[in-house]
Amino acid sequence: MNSNGLDMIDNTTARRDEPKVLLRTENLTKSFMTDSGQLTVLKDVNLAIAARERIAVVGESGSGKTTLMHILGTLDRPTSGHCYFESTDLFSLKTDQLDHFRNQQLGFVFQFHQLLPEFTALENVMMPALIAGHNRRQAAEMAQTLLSQTGLQQRLTHKPGQLSGGEQQRVAIARALVLKPRILIADEPTGNLDSNTSDGIYSLLDRVYLEYDLTMIMVTHNDELAARMDRTLRICDGCVTG
Ligand SMILES: Nc1ncnc2c1ncn2[C@@H]1O[C@H](COP(=O)(O)OP(=O)(O)OP(=O)(O)O)[C@@H](O)[C@H]1O
Ligand SMILES: [Mg+2]
Repeated sequence: MNSNGLDMIDNTTARRDEPKVLLRTENLTKSFMTDSGQLTVLKDVNLAIAARERIAVVGESGSGKTTLMHILGTLDRPTSGHCYFESTDLFSLKTDQLDHFRNQQLGFVFQFHQLLPEFTALENVMMPALIAGHNRRQAAEMAQTLLSQTGLQQRLTHKPGQLSGGEQQRVAIARALVLKPRILIADEPTGNLDSNTSDGIYSLLDRVYLEYDLTMIMVTHNDELAARMDRTLRICDGCVTG
């Protein structure tokens, strides 16, 4: 077991002996307490996502897509139920173990990029690498490689406010991939982009899916895109089908 107590999610070990199901939920329920009482957004959700599967997540606005992505991405906790990565019960991990898991295994692309406005594109992409303990030089090299792969080698020193919407989202994708995660979760990554720019982002995601050997879970309103994925999960009345 390594110093974090997390040998089961060590990249090398896990990739060698890949199980069919990578991510699994068991009776996942999420409720919010609101002024008008308890609002249950997800009810007893049971999902099994295989390694390298590409999943589209669809549903009406307010149906719980972001809520589910945040829980699968360990950014939020369920009210009850479990979420397993291979055999690890994620929400039973200690906070530092869960932080380590998220940093090493997951890339998250938010609907509205969530880049840090005061940092350059390069620094934003370096951030997960610095958190993982790489020194500045290594982190800068890793970030530069990713930004080149996403076509932004000429924009390294631009701050988010000096980038177009599509460029900001490409920086966010580069940031999500800089540590070569096994799972990429994207919550409507083209939410506020025009259709041409969106197509460019989708092509980029197609490319990185293959290049980085990813398991990809993506919220989308785009039926054409959903049809190109391996499977579509539909959220309705708190239930997930598909
Ligand atoms: N922190 C919270 N407190 C109370 N209610 C919440 C909270 N977060 C989300 N909700 C409610 O949960 C429901 C699901 O929200 P969620 O953001 O998951 O929807 P969504 O499917 O992602 O919608 P959209 O397509 O508009 O992004 C909504 O009705 C929302 O109002
Ligand atoms: Mg949402």
